[in-house]
Order: sequence, then structure tokens, then C-alpha cells
Amino acid sequence: MLLHMSTWLVAFVFGSLILVTQGRVLWSKTPATHGFKNEEGYILKTAYPLGNGRLGIMPFGHPGSEKLVLNIDSLWSGGPFEASNYTGGNPLENKHDALSRIRSTIFESGTTSDMSDFVGNGNNYGSYRVLGNLTVSIDGIETFTGNQIFKIAVFCSHPDSACFYHVEASGGLPPISISFENQLVPQDLIRPGCDNNSVSIIGVTQTGPPEGLKYEATARVLGSSDAEATCSEAGTLRLVPAAQQTSIEFVIAAGTNYDQTKGNSEHNYTFRGTDPHAIVDKTANAVLAKDYTRILHSHMLDFASLVSKFTLSLPDSLNSSGIETAHLISGYKVDGPGDSFLEALLFDFARYLLISSSRTGSLPANLQGRWTEELKPEWRSDYHANINLQMNYWVADQTGLQAAQGPLFDYMRLNWTPRGRETANLLYNSTGWVTHNEMNIFGHSGMKSDPKWANYPVAPAWMMQHVWDYFDYTQDVTWLTEVGYPLMKGVATFWVSQLQEDAFTNDGTLVAIPCNSPEQGPTTFGCAHYQQAIHALLVNVMGAALITKDTDTLFSDKVRLALAKMDKGLHVASWGGVKEWKMPESLGFDTQNKHRHLSHLTGWYPGYSIASYLRGYTDSGIQAAINKTLIARGNGTASDADAGWAKIWRSACWARLNNTDEAYFHLRYAIDRNFAGNGLSMYKGVQPPFQIDANLGLGGAILSMLVVDLPRAYTNGSSNDVARTVVLGPAIPRSWRGGSVRGLLLRGGGSVDFSWDNEGLVTQATLRSGQAKYQMVNKKGESVGYGVH
Ligand SMILES: *[C@@H]1O[C@H](CO)[C@@H](O)[C@H](O)[C@H]1NC(C)=O
Ligand SMILES: *[C@@H]1O[C@H](CO)[C@@H](O)[C@H](O)[C@H]1NC(C)=O
Ligand SMILES: *[C@@H]1O[C@H](CO)[C@@H](O)[C@H](O)[C@H]1NC(C)=O
Ligand SMILES: *[C@@H]1O[C@H](CO)[C@@H](O)[C@H](O)[C@H]1NC(C)=O
Ligand SMILES: *[C@@H]1O[C@H](CO)[C@@H](O)[C@H](O)[C@H]1NC(C)=O
Ligand SMILES: *[C@@H]1O[C@H](CO)[C@@H](O)[C@H](O)[C@H]1NC(C)=O
Ligand SMILES: *[C@@H]1O[C@H](CO)[C@@H](O)[C@H](O)[C@H]1NC(C)=O
Ligand SMILES: *[C@@H]1O[C@H](CO)[C@@H](O)[C@H](O)[C@H]1NC(C)=O
Ligand SMILES: *[C@@H]1O[C@H](CO)[C@@H](O)[C@H](O)[C@H]1NC(C)=O
Ligand SMILES: *[C@@H]1O[C@H](CO)[C@@H](O)[C@H](O)[C@H]1NC(C)=O
Repeated sequence: MLLHMSTWLVAFVFGSLILVTQGRVLWSKTPATHGFKNEEGYILKTAYPLGNGRLGIMPFGHPGSEKLVLNIDSLWSGGPFEASNYTGGNPLENKHDALSRIRSTIFESGTTSDMSDFVGNGNNYGSYRVLGNLTVSIDGIETFTGNQIFKIAVFCSHPDSACFYHVEASGGLPPISISFENQLVPQDLIRPGCDNNSVSIIGVTQTGPPEGLKYEATARVLGSSDAEATCSEAGTLRLVPAAQQTSIEFVIAAGTNYDQTKGNSEHNYTFRGTDPHAIVDKTANAVLAKDYTRILHSHMLDFASLVSKFTLSLPDSLNSSGIETAHLISGYKVDGPGDSFLEALLFDFARYLLISSSRTGSLPANLQGRWTEELKPEWRSDYHANINLQMNYWVADQTGLQAAQGPLFDYMRLNWTPRGRETANLLYNSTGWVTHNEMNIFGHSGMKSDPKWANYPVAPAWMMQHVWDYFDYTQDVTWLTEVGYPLMKGVATFWVSQLQEDAFTNDGTLVAIPCNSPEQGPTTFGCAHYQQAIHALLVNVMGAALITKDTDTLFSDKVRLALAKMDKGLHVASWGGVKEWKMPESLGFDTQNKHRHLSHLTGWYPGYSIASYLRGYTDSGIQAAINKTLIARGNGTASDADAGWAKIWRSACWARLNNTDEAYFHLRYAIDRNFAGNGLSMYKGVQPPFQIDANLGLGGAILSMLVVDLPRAYTNGSSNDVARTVVLGPAIPRSWRGGSVRGLLLRGGGSVDFSWDNEGLVTQATLRSGQAKYQMVNKKGESVGYGVH
């Protein structure tokens, strides 16, 4: 008998133990296959991803002739490693003279088509890329007969900073061969090798000068194996185990000479760290003497400590738990009844994926999280911050995944801020800092391309929502003082210097100019998306200034003034929807269109400048405008894209309108139309590329169906003591009947458990902790629980 234990089962053992009553596990009877891109077996449509934040692994192939695709977070081409004069997309001299010309053109005619002074060239932007394959061959495994049982397990451990491969065979181990390869790069750029207990690969992204980014990976036999080892010239280690040996383990460690702390002027923005050899060696050697079961145990404890912070319990009313995951997904239909088992499974998967791709010390999750098999994945698998990066983190705040958020803040602080200060100065003659839409890991903060895609200085303002929310959920004042507030203040400083008195409508308000709505429309002024993001930023930074006791009154006076005067980005078009641009409709842009982005609704969801700071959540006039906008925007399949994230975003927005049917429809639509059999979301219907935002965002959409917990402006007075209203179950479908939630975190530091009846109406809530007071209501407005101080 041959048993190929799915690698990720082990990695997820604790997840499934915690949820064991519901038996939620992704599983497959057939191993993942490898076929490039549009071929049937595209690995990202069949493989299960594993990771510990820095490292990502996808095993594929038949047991016995298996390969593990290996990724490390900082392996990128481009940047200062490939061009020592790399500037992060910044021009060599000031360009801000152009600003007044751009602004006058826009104020005269409403738009401009000339942003050429600001557009960079994207040279040496680089790309996230695969490190290589570790191939593992086990002699004769396919022809074994009798009662032999093989078990293979692979997992990536955060505590041990490494991945592990374990194989056991009840009747004694056959010979095993392992080696590293990268078939995609010129072979003179890599050096595979081996010795008597390990294989390795050393590579560099270019020979130089300058010398490219260096990387190294190793796989070493754990413990004192009795196997007889031979190392071939080509770098294959062949192990012939002793007769009595029944198991063997390898540790897989990797590193690069990238160092995010070297991305500032003190280090000439080199991002260059030390040669990775010493740290890779040390990481691997540190575990060689450890007992495998101890390593596995500490991995599971670590994983469980995060997974267990939150539980979503949904019924398995279709008896799906015993069915292979790919079958569940292929049988799942938008016009069917849904499948609460699969929906809960994908919710858990969202949290699993974030934990696996974003942990302390790693870079944040990029467009593919931590999993690519290519040298140049779509959009370079970079950081698009006009919805995608944001969506990646939607599930974190409320489900206790604060440990996964650190990389995001480190990245903004170390990677964006230093170059972003230059950009603010060079393009906008401003202090503070700014970046645009597309970011690499080398401080790219300039405007990379065509303004329609890249004229996006509002990215950091939107990202500051994550900073404020992290504080709002944790109430960690020390963190806010040391990390959060300095980030927010830098961005707010930029924006208060940029807002201009609206000389087009002359209504006395302040507007952003130039601006454009992400990926569509003209370069203009007063874009709804900008105004909403900046509004939220300024409200939040005022709160943060009070909490951290900033004495810089010059700054707070400027913010207060700007807040009072700024246009808040909510205007209604003649057809009743929210206007995306402030210019008159007669200029022809504010028509009803089905564009994938919902940029002018960011203040509704995931933001809250409209929903909370303008009290839109309970205002029937505003609700009606949101409703009309969502109806007009369609179902996320317009000719411009058929991506999962567009549907997931729609689902979350509808939930905030208490519209269960629509919220659930768009959730089902995303799963039906964009999710492959291994649970990963594809961009073009169910065709590659894989993009992780819909996977991670699905967690946020489901949370949006479960709760509305809006922030309120923090003020310097007693209003902070008024009970917070939390709406539980705004959009719980009937098929989730009788379900419950444990451990939902609330703004203000609280946490609540709740459950609902057969109609999806929340009937019971128990506040578990929290310094602040809460009033919990269900969607009918009935009180379901009171907080205690
Ligand atoms: C860097 O140098 C290259 C080659 O000399 C040149 O083509 C490129 O424009 C320079 N880039 C910057 C940002 O100066
Ligand atoms: C990994 O293995 C597959 C299947 O043999 C191959 O197509 C692919 O190019 C390999 N990837 C790398 C990075 O070598
Ligand atoms: C491997 O080689 C090293 C020297 O290169 C030697 O010290 C060690 O004993 C060898 N180990 C085995 C298992 O042969
Ligand atoms: C930075 O560049 C300057 C001038 O090119 C050089 O003098 C200095 O040593 C460099 N510093 C580092 C840390 O590379
Ligand atoms: C699920 O299984 C239970 C117990 O075997 C059975 O009573 C029920 O009818 C099944 N439900 C469906 C939808 O098949
Ligand atoms: C740039 O900013 C400085 C300081 O605020 C100001 O004195 C100068 O006039 C500005 N330059 C332009 C071209 O706007
Ligand atoms: C949304 O529009 C639909 C169709 O016009 C209408 O039936 C519904 O009441 C509206 N909902 C809100 C919240 O305005
Ligand atoms: C999505 O919208 C398109 C029209 O924009 C329509 O053809 C399609 O049927 C819709 N899909 C569903 C599942 O309703
Ligand atoms: C906040 O309130 C305290 C006490 O009432 C007062 O001393 C302080 O000046 C106020 N700060 C601001 C920024 O209004
Ligand atoms: C959704 O429910 C909440 C709580 O009852 C209510 O305040 C809000 O107005 C409702 N929204 C709509 C669109 O009905």
C-alpha cells in the first residue's frame, strides 16, 4: 500500500485539530502536477502551498519522484544589485516645477493628459522570482507491493526558520536521492553542490558588476543517519539507508544577501546585507541535532497559537467534509445553495495563507503571497497598493493575526519611507513621504508608468488605515508611539501640504490635485477615492496625536484646518450613484460603468470615512447612493478583468448594506468562477495567473458578513466613553444556520463570541474582554449583549 500523506495536512494538523469536530482539511487523492501556465496541470492550480513567512514551498509530482518549488521572500531581480545608480524610480533632479502647470491645466479644463514630467521609467524595477526546485527521488516507490506504508510530510516552521521533509517507510527505506535545480536561469549563475550529508545551491541574479543579489539554499540530513552517502559531481546526494532504517528527515534552509535595514541614505540605499552562507549554515546546523518530533511539535504549537485565536463554526449541512476538496470546488455553483463547509474551509485557508506568507522578520505577502514558480510572474508579483496589498491583510485585525502584520509595518517603515521622502521632495516639493502604486523591495516610490496605473500618491494614505486599525484593535500605545504614529504623521504631513483650494468649482474646499481613480479615468482633481482616504487619514492622525501626546501644535493645527476645509469625497451623480470624480458630469466620465475597482467606495468598505466619519452607515440617503453604485458596478466580470478580488470586494461592500443575498451571491460567484481545485484563486476566470488577494480577501468578506465594527473619531473628551455600537451578523445567510463565532476582536480592545439562529439572526453574544464599553445589536437593531468595563 502506498500512502502519500499530503504535505500540508501535517502543516495544518493543528488547524484541523482545532476544527476537528468539523474536520476541515484541504485534501486531494492525487499529487499536484506540473504544467506550465495555461496547461491543465499548472502547479498553482493543483499544489498546496506551505510557508513560514520567509520561505514558501509547493511540493508536486508523484511520491517517489517529487519536487518542491522553493521560494524565499527577498529573492528579487533588479534594484541596486543590478544597477548601482538605482534611484527607486525617482528622477535625478526636482520635477516639482511642473506641478503648478499641471494644476492650472486641470483647474482650467478639469483634466490633463500631460504628466510626463512625473512619470519614471521603471528601469531595474525587477521581479519577485522562484529560487528553484528541490528534487527528491525515492527508488522504486511506485512498484512497492505488500504491506509497505510510505508517509511523506513537509512543513515550514517559523520557530526554526526552515522547512522540513520527512519520509518514513514501514518496511525499511529504499535509497533516496536529492538535489537542487533551477532550470529557468542561465546555468552559469547557479552552483548546485553536495557533500556527505547535504545538497546546496548558490546563485546570483547577475554576474555584474555590480554583482547581483546572492542567494543560497541547503537541504541537510537531520540527526545521525546510518545511510551511506554519495555526492555526485552534478550535485546529487544519494543516500542508501541501512537495513533497519525506517525514516529520514531533511531540513531546508535558505537566505539572500538582501537587507531591508540598509535601504536608507546612510547605506546609500544599497539594501545589501552580508553573504547568506553563514546564516543559512547556522540555521540548518541549529536543528541538525534536534529531535524531529520536537521540531514538528514546536511548529504545531506555533501555528496553533495563531489559528486558535479565532473560530468560525458553520454547519456541514451538505455532508461535504468527507469529499475531496477539488470535487467540492468544482461542484460549487453561484446559482446553487452554497456550501457552508467549503466556505468555512476557505475562510480558514485565508488565515492559513496569511500565517504562512507573513511573519515577523519576513517581507509582507506580495501578489502571490510567497508562491511563484516563475522568474517573472505577472505584475512581477510585487506590491500593488491600490487594493491588492490592502486586501491581503483584511483578515488580520479581527481574527487575532497581529503577528502576521508586523512585516507590513516594517516594510512601510524601512522600504517606503526613506526613498518616499525623496519622492515627496522631488515631485511634490513636500516634506513627509509618499509612494505610488507599484512597489518592489528596493524602495521604489516613484511613479512607475502611465499615470492611469501609476499616478497614485494616495497609496500610503490608504495604507495608514491599516496602521490606525492595528492600534484600534490592540490599543497598544507603545506601538502607536514608536511605529504607527511616525508613519501616519509622515503621510499626513505630505497631504496637508498638497491639498489645494478647489479653483474649478470654487466651493471653498480643499482637494487633491493631480489625482486619478485607480486604473481608470482621467488625471483630474478631487477624486472621490483620494478625498476619502485622506479624510480618514487626517481624522485618525488627530486621534493618534492625542493618544501619543504629540506636542507639535503646528502640525495638529494644520491637520485640523485641512480637515475642516477638505472635500470629503462624497458627491452623488444625477443617476443616483456616488461620483468617482468631482468634475462635472458633462465632462463625460461619471457614467455608470462596470470597472473592476470600487475606488469611490473605499470610504464604505474596507475604509470608513463615509460609513463612519460621515455617518453613512445609518443614513438612508447615503445607503441608497451606495446601493445604486454597487448595482451599476456589476458583478466583477467586465471585459477589463474577471478576477476574484473584484467579486470579493463587492461581497464585502454589500454586506455592509445588510444585503445578505448580494453579499452571499458575490462570495459564491468568486468561488465558483475564480477558485481552482486546490483552493487558490486565479485572475482570469479559473485561468492563471494565481493571485492571492481573493484568497486572503475572502476572509475579510466573510468577516464583513459577520460584523460591522466601525471606528469613531477619537477626540479629546468624554465622547470616548460612550458605548460603541457593534452590529453582529449584518449579512449571515440561512445556509450558515445555527453557526457561531469565537474570539472576534473589537475596536477598543474587546473580544466577543456570538451565535445565530436558523434565519442567520444573531441571538446571543458574550463579551470576553475589553476595556471599552460596547452595545451589541443584531441586524434588526435588537440588543444582543452588553459589554462590561
Ligand atoms: C544608470 O546608469 C545607466 C547606465 O549608465 C543609465 O542608462 C541609467 O539612465 C542610469 N539611471 C539613473 C537612474 O541614473
Ligand atoms: C521545476 O520543475 C519543473 C518540472 O520539471 C520544471 O518545469 C521547472 O522549470 C522547474 N523549476 C525551476 C525553477 O527549475
Ligand atoms: C562528512 O565529511 C566530513 C568532512 O568533510 C567528515 O568530518 C564527516 O565525518 C563526514 N560525515 C559522514 C557521515 O561521513
Ligand atoms: C555611499 O556613497 C558614498 C559616495 O559614493 C561613499 O563615500 C560611501 O562610502 C558610501 N557608503 C556606503 C555605506 O556604501
Ligand atoms: C447528511 O448525512 C446525514 C447522516 O448520514 C443524513 O441524515 C443527511 O440526510 C445527509 N444530508 C445530505 C444533504 O445529504
Ligand atoms: C518649494 O517649497 C518651498 C518651501 O515650502 C518654497 O519656499 C518654494 O517656493 C517651493 N517651490 C516651488 C517651486 O513651489
Ligand atoms: C437598493 O436598490 C434596490 C433596487 O432599486 C431596492 O429595492 C433596495 O431597497 C435598495 N436598497 C437600499 C438600501 O437603498
Ligand atoms: C454577471 O454580469 C454579466 C453582465 O455584466 C452577466 O452576463 C452574467 O450573467 C452575470 N453573472 C451572473 C452569475 O449573474
Ligand atoms: C486635551 O484635553 C486636556 C485635558 O482636558 C487638555 O489639557 C489638552 O490641552 C487637550 N489637548 C488638545 C490637543 O486639545
Ligand atoms: C443595517 O443594520 C443596522 C443595524 O440594525 C442599521 O443601523 C443600518 O441602518 C442597516 N442598514 C441598512 C442599509 O438597512
